Amino acid sequence: MPAFGLDIGSSSIKLIELTGNKKQPKLTAFGLAVNPVGNVDTDNEQELVQIAQAIKKLTTDAGVKQRRVVVGLPESKVYTRVVEMPTLSESELASAINWEAEQYIPIPIAEVQLDYRILSQPQAIGSNKMRVFLVAAPVAVVNRMVKILELANLELEALETEMLGVARAMTQQQNNAQLLVHLGARTTDIGIVQGETVVFTRSISTGGMALTRALAADLGLEVASAEQYKRTYGLDKNQLQGKVRTSLLGVFSSLVSEFKKAQHFYASTYSGGIRRLILSGGGAYLPEVTSTLASELGVEVVIGDPFAALNLTPQQRQRLGGIGAVFTVAVGMALREM
Ligand SMILES: Nc1ncnc2c1ncn2[C@@H]1O[C@H](COP(=O)(O)OP(=O)(O)OP(=O)(O)O)[C@@H](O)[C@H]1O
Ligand SMILES: [Mg+2]
Repeated sequence: MPAFGLDIGSSSIKLIELTGNKKQPKLTAFGLAVNPVGNVDTDNEQELVQIAQAIKKLTTDAGVKQRRVVVGLPESKVYTRVVEMPTLSESELASAINWEAEQYIPIPIAEVQLDYRILSQPQAIGSNKMRVFLVAAPVAVVNRMVKILELANLELEALETEMLGVARAMTQQQNNAQLLVHLGARTTDIGIVQGETVVFTRSISTGGMALTRALAADLGLEVASAEQYKRTYGLDKNQLQGKVRTSLLGVFSSLVSEFKKAQHFYASTYSGGIRRLILSGGGAYLPEVTSTLASELGVEVVIGDPFAALNLTPQQRQRLGGIGAVFTVAVGMALREM
């Protein structure tokens, strides 16, 4: 059975279909469409129908036959946390986790769906406690996803937070700690991974849209032109006397300081520092974003390729060139079923 991954973003919807096995996955379909609502955070019936119709069309156009789909849950809607607990057996942990979660999750436990996994690695410095990665998704958010899928004539196979998908898709990472930065339209998600294990996540409600808005305001441009300026000149110092860069940095700097905080958090909690930053999401293609981040953070910065482990045909490679990183979450979701 093919694996079907879906990423319903606020600006665009992405789908990926893979066949084969984990060792040799094969890309059999992919698709990208504009989210007609420009948001996912809605309970408006009509808007949900519009999103569902866009998904339905995308699925048909891409030729996806599989109905069961793995969908990404926006990091911003989910509470994730690494908690330290005394070493417990699986069954002890299963009952203790609710009590533990109550301390960290700001909404009633009855209103969330809890999930967790034990992080066997790494050992924290000077601690023999076990570390547990806790995920709590509000039931309302889960129900909304299920509803959209139903309207799109699809069935939910599994839900997973986006960062877990990003981590899975970025297979070039190995062993060393890496900072994953996923730059979307409305949000920027940060994760720290060791191997494939996510040990830290954070979501910031600033994304590509905020960059475009700042540029529109500062340079007195229409939003559509500002979007073009952003994509063409980005953070390049040598374009338009650096005016675009300066304007974008007004917003981008706040993101950089969040990346630095994550870097410091890691350095103070685990041994060894972050070796590399991997960018994904549409914002990864902002001109000069890698060089800017590399000089700010002092680490190697690359644009991630979620298709690196897939044997793409030359045509697929050509069509995905320069936009591959946009599909990171969708690839990660599909890989979950491999
Ligand atoms: N070449 C580029 N340079 C700069 N930004 C870009 C470029 N291409 C796309 N973007 C930006 O990427 C964003 C869209 O990325 P993506 O599709 O990952 O977001 P999304 O998943 O729809 O949003 P979210 O996850 O926040 O709901 C937009 O803000 C867009 O302006
Ligand atoms: Mg997204």
